[in-house]
Amino acid sequence: MTVLDILTLGDPALRQVATPLRPDELARPRWQEFCRDLVQTMRHANGAGLAAVQVGVHRRIAALEVKDNPRYPYKPNIPLTIAVNPVLTPLSDETFENYEGCLSVPGLRGVVRRFRYLHVRYLDPDGAEHEQEVSGLTAGTWQHECDHLDGLLFVDRLVDSTTLTTWENFERFHKAAFVKRVKAMDPPR
Ligand code: NI
Repeated sequence: MTVLDILTLGDPALRQVATPLRPDELARPRWQEFCRDLVQTMRHANGAGLAAVQVGVHRRIAALEVKDNPRYPYKPNIPLTIAVNPVLTPLSDETFENYEGCLSVPGLRGVVRRFRYLHVRYLDPDGAEHEQEVSGLTAGTWQHECDHLDGLLFVDRLVDSTTLTTWENFERFHKAAFVKRVKAMDPPR
């Protein structure tokens, strides 16, 4: 397995839209190995998620995993998920304001409005179809990763550029109120 290089803001490759994989392509060793490398790279960088586009591969694959993440200690855990050709469908118009960061935007965080309840459909690396409903911060993570597959970064969706903050100043000025607010959100329906 290989730890891949993560592209950063300003690299034009982050702005390209990724294409779906056919199941017969997905079964090939090249893509099986890529899925493993994507997970290893995400874990190496302590990411909550990592999209193929972020390592310069323009296919619709994203990895997600939150396990007591040091970058996001308040995030609910997400079991390791490798989502191929993910499709997100909001379950209502309801949104919330999420503080996001990104391995491709080092050092910065900012507030993005996200759907609160989502239906998620994707293939796993074995080609099996999965469906689930997610909410809150986990729904935010899914939307963030799927945005990467469309060449979008959280900075494109800021509710207001004045919400941009360094990680240090997030901790100092914004974290307490944010964590209180997201913990007060209702449990999922
Ligand atoms: Ni990101």
